Amino acid sequence: MTQDELKQAVAQAAADYVAQNAPAGAIIGVGTGSTANFFIDALAALKDRIGGTVASSEATRKRLEGHGMPVFDLNEVIEMPIYVDGADEIDGGLNMIKGGGGALTREKIVAAVATTFVCICDASKLVETMGKFPLPVEVIPMARAHVARELAKLGGRPQERVGFITDNGNIILDVHGLQITDPKALEAQINQITGVVTNGLFAVRPANVLLLGTADGVRTLT
Ligand code: A5P
Repeated sequence: MTQDELKQAVAQAAADYVAQNAPAGAIIGVGTGSTANFFIDALAALKDRIGGTVASSEATRKRLEGHGMPVFDLNEVIEMPIYVDGADEIDGGLNMIKGGGGALTREKIVAAVATTFVCICDASKLVETMGKFPLPVEVIPMARAHVARELAKLGGRPQERVGFITDNGNIILDVHGLQITDPKALEAQINQITGVVTNGLFAVRPANVLLLGTADGVRTLT
């Protein structure tokens, strides 16, 4: 199976999860990235059953609207039973690194409102210890140099993502060389640096369910 076929299989499994677990008329949170795009395409088949969606990026909003699905402002939504998104790395505790596509802040905000976070990944994303994938940190532009110095003190090698501006008008520093043994503590520590909007560790609010695409089929981990 190709990586795209694995992504498609987990995306369909996530749409099936929504069909089985979300009450009719529910608002579904939708992530960003290539795996999330396959999910959007699969979710379109349920558009008469769900009440609508909340998008974690402008790219996702456009794709949802392209399928004729309503996209709500998060501020109008009180309850969201399920949020579905990919990850760049995920460990056995369902802690994740996200933000390879730069949408980490809105993803974290939408995930914070959702009751259940369903992560969809191909098997290459499951790791023992996170950190091989550079950790994205969204930063207010005027704080770039200060934040980079503070991240270096933590043992990382921050590199600005060249030519990239987030949906919120900020920059991304990708931090290389971190060995993330305590993801929850590191998430909190980096978020304390003045000028950081948020970082791509999702450990304070990890996934609740992982649908993992493997050559032997989709595995469910909780
Ligand atoms: C977007 O900012 C990211 O958090 C993505 O969810 C993550 O990078 C996974 O993307 P892919 O599904 O494209 O690998």
